[in-house]
Amino acid sequence: MTILPILQKPLTMKTILFSLFLGISLVSFGQDPYLKDQYKFPIGASMNPRLLAENEAYRKLASSEFNSVTPENHMKIMLVHPEANRFDFSKGDEIVAFAKGQQKRVHGHTLVWHNQVPKWMNEFSGDAQAWENMLKNHVQTVAKHYKGQVAGWDVVNEAFLDDGSLRPSIWAKYIPDYIAKSFQWAHEADPEAILFYNDYGQDGKPKKMQAILTLVQDLQARHIPIHGLGLQMHINIDSKNDEILSVINQSKSTGLAIHFSELDIAVNPKNDSTFVLHEAAKEAQKQKFQLIFKAYASIPKSQQYGITFWNVSDKDSWLRGYFKRPKEYPLLFDDSYNRKPAYSQLLKNEK
Ligand code: G3I
Repeated sequence: MTILPILQKPLTMKTILFSLFLGISLVSFGQDPYLKDQYKFPIGASMNPRLLAENEAYRKLASSEFNSVTPENHMKIMLVHPEANRFDFSKGDEIVAFAKGQQKRVHGHTLVWHNQVPKWMNEFSGDAQAWENMLKNHVQTVAKHYKGQVAGWDVVNEAFLDDGSLRPSIWAKYIPDYIAKSFQWAHEADPEAILFYNDYGQDGKPKKMQAILTLVQDLQARHIPIHGLGLQMHINIDSKNDEILSVINQSKSTGLAIHFSELDIAVNPKNDSTFVLHEAAKEAQKQKFQLIFKAYASIPKSQQYGITFWNVSDKDSWLRGYFKRPKEYPLLFDDSYNRKPAYSQLLKNEK
């Protein structure tokens, strides 16, 4: 009744502006908060520069929902160092520029990995010293290029097999003690960067977990700078909660910074081609996200580096692209870039 007279008045500029203000206020009042503003640690996603440039919905969500960014691929050896005498930082720089423009943190991924190694490195020949010089040059050129622009680095990625043995790779084969050396080189190049060892699938694989803990002890005993552990957290709705929690507790006990660095929760782990996303799977995924966030929130603040999702929406997940699992829905945002109910649930947690 009271607003009726306003509606009956002719539309002056004042009334138009007032109605606009009212509308905008109501919309923003009704908007749920963002996870990144609700939690005291950074919430990140791995990102792809092509999607950031070409896909508006992706860019919007990447901008509004995350305050930390990991390049999904564009700081990896093959992309950044395609030829012996040529580095290509163009795409990594695009991601850094995007993040910087919005005051987001950048996490570097990854300096030393057995995967996505360029042909020239695989075919490299030389004695032990030549191999060492080659890797040192790679690590230090990349770390120096991004010095002051990244907060941390996954220095060495996935160096152990499930049985805890050192993964065979050109690095393990030709460079004795390559893990320790890589950490040392990265630290010399960028002394401020927080340096991580990053790996996947420690849950249910006690030997792998033990190998990582032994590595940490060994590096620390030798005063090699390691500051953090990345737990990738590529898990699924059937992953066992007690195994996940045990890995988190063991990691926490190192006193290092902990990064859940590549979180996604697969709902169709057997890649059933007839799978249809059903309520029970959605609910199981929601509960698992809850468990992960609660467990992370219980890590001492001084050890919290953040939680990073492995890309933005289900549509962009590596499980669909790289792994060729079209019926997979592993993230917090659906194919239309909308929040899933699991998101709202996470907002309700005590932070
Ligand atoms: O961009 C090219 C495209 O031009 C080309 O036509 C196409 C043909 O194969 O390949 C495209 O590149 C692919 C790239 O993903 C972008 O989609 C590469 O082949 C493919 O190897 C690459 O896969 C990445 C994978 O690591 C291997 O590096 C995934 O995107 C990325 O999500 C995945 O990420 C890893 C982490 O770095 C480490 N932890 C495990 C995680 C998941 O595997």
